[in-house]
Amino acid sequence: MLALGIETSCDETAVAIVRHSGQVMGGQPAEILAETVLSQIDDHAPFGGVVPEIAARAHVDHLDRLVRQCLDQAGIGLAALDLVAATTGPGLIGGVLVGSVAGQAIASAANVPFRAVNHLEGHALSPRLAEPVAFPYLLFLVSGGHTQIVCVRAVGAYERWGSTLDDALGEAFDKTAKILDLGFPGGPAVERMAEGGDPTRFALPRPLKGKPGCDLSFAGLKTALRLAAEDTAPLSESDVRDLAASFQAAVVDSVSNRLGQALDRFAEETEDAPRLVAAGGVAANKALRAALDTLVASQGGRLIVPPAKHCTDNAAMIAWAALEREVAGLPAHPTTARPRWPLDEAAAPVLGSGKKGARA
Ligand code: KG4
Ligand code: ZN
Repeated sequence: MLALGIETSCDETAVAIVRHSGQVMGGQPAEILAETVLSQIDDHAPFGGVVPEIAARAHVDHLDRLVRQCLDQAGIGLAALDLVAATTGPGLIGGVLVGSVAGQAIASAANVPFRAVNHLEGHALSPRLAEPVAFPYLLFLVSGGHTQIVCVRAVGAYERWGSTLDDALGEAFDKTAKILDLGFPGGPAVERMAEGGDPTRFALPRPLKGKPGCDLSFAGLKTALRLAAEDTAPLSESDVRDLAASFQAAVVDSVSNRLGQALDRFAEETEDAPRLVAAGGVAANKALRAALDTLVASQGGRLIVPPAKHCTDNAAMIAWAALEREVAGLPAHPTTARPRWPLDEAAAPVLGSGKKGARA
């Protein structure tokens, strides 16, 4: 089964063509025939963050060309496709509309079904693009927009065990970079500065460390970092390095504690050695990865991090999520574009529960 996938929910315009061999037991069922990701980072950098209107217009400008490019790269025409999939939420609504309307138009022209995909389900199933990771596994999804700990029991069966109570971790990295004047996107810059710094110089809080449950929080840490920076200003390069290192150490400490709780729960509920998947842009952070690796290994388990191109936003995971649902015989989602769409629809909203639904 061959799917064209489209991802436009944030600041990447991405298209991919993926095949599911239908093999469910053994072997690797996923084959990527073509994929491309166009980052808009340069368009947004002058504003220090993603500007939704600029993002939506950039998707319009590039999407058709990228679809053509992928079809050419795969050496196929529309007639070869079995379905077209696009992210229909959660995300910036202008961009989501661009991708989902384009996807529906292509599906209609190709006379194949359109499948709406939850962006978070794409991330949740993304490790299975590279290897048939067995269910259940724990997913730590950490990006600029999301920070969640999810137990992935099967395709379509996701339980949120923990979530940030305030900022996403990527957002906290980006804000820290802004305070330290390191540019956008901030995560890689903070990591680079942290390498040469003293992580013990500033005593920053470890949010929720030692508390029951698996929720996370980063707003207090970000404020503490800002206050420490203000107290120390004007900042020398070594001050910036020490602040970045102290921030990163606090993050790693807090996250390790929260994920430790989740791994304990996983061990209680399943007989298996824990499998922990880390996905999302922040999973690229080497200090965080090393800490998670040690944590899971101490419980006899394994840390799985999808290749960088499938860790951050991409369309292969969107095509793949649609294919996995199809092969599992799950019903299609409604095609309505949604800014908010929790992965675990049964879970109570964590914050921002208004008539539009949960923010996190
Ligand atoms: O998954 P992603 O590419 O996009 C979405 O947010 O959906 O994640 C981007 C986020 C940004 O906040 C960026 O600063 C952060 O991931 N990030 C990092 C690192 N690389 C990217 N944070 C910490 N350390 C990194 N090395
Ligand atoms: Zn994402």
